[in-house]
Amino acid sequence: MQTRSLGPGAPLVSAIGFGAMPLSIQGRPDESVGVRVIHATLDAGVTLIDSANVYCLDNGDIGHNERLIARALKSWSGAGPSVLVATKGGLARPQGRWESDARPERLKRACEHSLKALDVDCIALYQLHAPDPQVPFVESVGALAELQREGKIRWVGLSNVSVDQIKQAQSMVPIVTVQNRLSPFARQALDDGVVRYCAEQGIGLLAFAPLGGAGLNKTLPQNPALQPIAKRHSASAHAIVLAWLLAQASNIIPIPGARAVEHAVDSARAAELSLSEAEREAIDQACF
Ligand SMILES: NC(=O)c1ccc[n+]([C@@H]2O[C@H](COP(=O)([O-])OP(=O)(O)OC[C@H]3O[C@@H](n4cnc5c(N)ncnc54)[C@H](OP(=O)(O)O)[C@@H]3O)[C@@H](O)[C@H]2O)c1
Repeated sequence: MQTRSLGPGAPLVSAIGFGAMPLSIQGRPDESVGVRVIHATLDAGVTLIDSANVYCLDNGDIGHNERLIARALKSWSGAGPSVLVATKGGLARPQGRWESDARPERLKRACEHSLKALDVDCIALYQLHAPDPQVPFVESVGALAELQREGKIRWVGLSNVSVDQIKQAQSMVPIVTVQNRLSPFARQALDDGVVRYCAEQGIGLLAFAPLGGAGLNKTLPQNPALQPIAKRHSASAHAIVLAWLLAQASNIIPIPGARAVEHAVDSARAAELSLSEAEREAIDQACF
C-alpha cells in the first residue's frame, strides 16, 4: 500500500487508514467478527487505525473499541510494519447520547482509561474529539500538551476544528493531525481552508466519514456520477470515492469504517486506484 506522512515528525502510514467506530457502536457485530475485520484490514496493508474512547454503546461501555483493537493487535499473526493506533478524548455517552466533555480533568482521566484499554504505556496519537462549547478551547488543548509532557501521548491531533482553532492550538503544542469530515458529499474542509492550511503545515488530514457515513454510503453503487467511473476501473463506487479523496491533496488520509471484511478490504485496495482529471472533475461537478 502507498504511504503518506501522518504529520510533522510522525511516521509514514498507509494512505488509507481504518476507522474502527462501526465495530463498537449501535449495530456492532460480534466481537469475533470485529477482530476478523481488523485482521483483514491489517492484512490488506493498513497501518493506521482510528478509535475513540466513546466508540461504544454508552458511558458504561467506554473503551470498547480500544479494547477490541488491542485484542485484535495481540492476536494478529501478520508480520507487516508496525500499526499506529490513534484515539480521542473529549466526548461522553450518557444514556448513549453523544455529548461534549473536554474539561482538562476529564481529558486526563479519559487518557488514563484509554492507556489501559489499549494496553500501552504511551498513546501514539491522541486527538481532541471536538472543541467543547462549555470549555475554553485553550484549556482542552492545554490538557493534551500536559499529557504529552508527561509522556502519556506521543503526538497531538485535533478533530472538528477550524483553521483559527488549529492556529490557536499550534501556539501551545505541535499539532500533527486534524480529523474533519470530508467526502464528495461534505466538502466543507476543502471550502473553509482547513485542507489547504493543513497541507501547507504538513499536517495530516484524517478524512472522517469519507464514504458519507452509515446511511449515505449505501446509495453510492446507484450514483449516476460514480457508476460509469467504477465500471471503467472494475472497482466499487466506494473505492472510487476514496480515490477521489486521495487526489484532493497529498496530506489527506481517508479513514473509512466497515463492519464487513469484504468492505474493509475493498476500501484498503482503493489506494491502488488513480482517477483521470476528467473523472475527478465529473465527481467535482456531481450534485450529491
Ligand atoms: N472525529 C469525528 O467526529 C468522527 C465522526 C464520525 C466518524 N469518525 C471516524 O471516521 C470513521 C469513518 O466514518 P464512518 O464509519 O462513520 O463512515 P464511512 O467510513 O463514510 O462509512 C462507513 C460505512 O461504509 C460501508 N463501507 C465501507 N467501505 C465499503 C466498501 N468498500 N463497499 C461497501 N460498503 C463500504 C461500511 O458498511 P458495513 O458496516 O456494512 O461494512 C461502513 O459501515 C469512523 O469509523 C471513525 O473512526 C470520526
